[in-house]
Amino acid sequence: MKNKVKISGTSVPRFATRMGVIAVTVGSAVGLGNIWRFPYEAGVHGGGAFLLVYLVFIAVMGIPVVCAEMIIGRKTHSNVHGAFAALSHQRFWRVTGVIGITGALAILGFYSVVAGWTLEYLRQSLTSFSGIHSQSLLHARFDAFATNGWLPAAWAVMFLALNHIVLARGVQKGIERMSNLLMPMLFVIMLVFCVNSLMMPGMKEGLTFLFKPDFSQITPSVCLGAMGQAFFSLSLGLGTMITYSAYFNDGVPLVRTASVTAVLDTLTAILAGIMIFPAVFTYGEQPAAGPRLVFEVLPAIFADMTGGQWWSVAFFLLLFIASLTSTVSMSEIPIAYLVQQRGMSRRGATLTVTLISMALGVVSAMSFGPWSDFTICGLTFFNFLDFLSSNILLPLGGMIISVFVGWVLDRAVVNEQLGSGRQVPRRIVSAIVFCLRWVAPAGIAIIFITGLIG
Ligand code: PHE
Repeated sequence: MKNKVKISGTSVPRFATRMGVIAVTVGSAVGLGNIWRFPYEAGVHGGGAFLLVYLVFIAVMGIPVVCAEMIIGRKTHSNVHGAFAALSHQRFWRVTGVIGITGALAILGFYSVVAGWTLEYLRQSLTSFSGIHSQSLLHARFDAFATNGWLPAAWAVMFLALNHIVLARGVQKGIERMSNLLMPMLFVIMLVFCVNSLMMPGMKEGLTFLFKPDFSQITPSVCLGAMGQAFFSLSLGLGTMITYSAYFNDGVPLVRTASVTAVLDTLTAILAGIMIFPAVFTYGEQPAAGPRLVFEVLPAIFADMTGGQWWSVAFFLLLFIASLTSTVSMSEIPIAYLVQQRGMSRRGATLTVTLISMALGVVSAMSFGPWSDFTICGLTFFNFLDFLSSNILLPLGGMIISVFVGWVLDRAVVNEQLGSGRQVPRRIVSAIVFCLRWVAPAGIAIIFITGLIG
């Protein structure tokens, strides 16, 4: 990072290179959302129907809202609370800061548990790789670990401690370089697994499940799930992209950055689907197995590959890194707020966020085992945090951000930030603004009402 700029008494850093900008935005977007959450959500919601609706949402809501967040962040070079305070005197818009900070902490609370599972699976691959592919044994193994309580809680804390180290050192030096190097490797490994899956007996059934939409399955709850997944996967609605783009230089092309991020993110999710579903049918797993899905299916794939142990090590290591680049970005939302608005030191802010997320992480890890009776609205604590953030806070934040940029923000600012008529044809900018004014707010409102009632 260089060229620090003074804003409201604190200096706001900048990303050094364009490549770094892509690496951190893609690093934020690509994570457990693509490899763990997408297959299980698609599995629960009928496969092809879910994928189709998901792709539509990425195009008409995802890319426009990424642009909207980037416009706000780069224009103000400020955190999610400060940005709205700088752009409007109306206090209402600052609610986005509350949504962003609450949502980021909620996600950290359950995401760290799953990231902790990847660490345990990494440890097992290294020390006691068993080469099992029987789903009932893998199921029993996952159960024994996840319901243990303290062990997964300890892994979640461990993961958050590693997240803390990266954050305390400053995001860009470590994470920017690490993402640059390692994200392409994850992609290559996934391609190898996809080719492998395409040779499995369950290939046809798996691909049909993933790619053939059964239109009768498109229900309000599938739409709510797909919308939540689109926002989750692109890290939208909480101000992650506002926070990151505050660190962009004025020359960074926003529409291109948003599109590259969305395309790579979607591609990774589809690759994960191609990797998982043929194996699901080959090994007799249920597509609707839920959060445990990839943790039971992937080890079966590794067991049947030559050098399976090392594939397994490489995969869980890269998945852990992909998770880390995402948790770093969500932690940066409250950290930037505490530093820029509350005048805390970066160290103090990082420690505060780490301690809160560790507390949430422990409770949600325990909710698979000893504390599973503690429920909120009928959901375990883990499921509650996931539902609250993905299906409510992210789309709600996304709706407010769309309305703000579509209707309230001066169009000249939008044109200037998106490079209308210079870097980007005017009609593309108009299409983005149209989606922000009409499609995203109306779509989110309708899906909310029908999905939450239905
Ligand atoms: N997009 C990340 C993933 O897919 C998760 C995330 C959500 C990151 C919200 C930041 C904010 O794993």
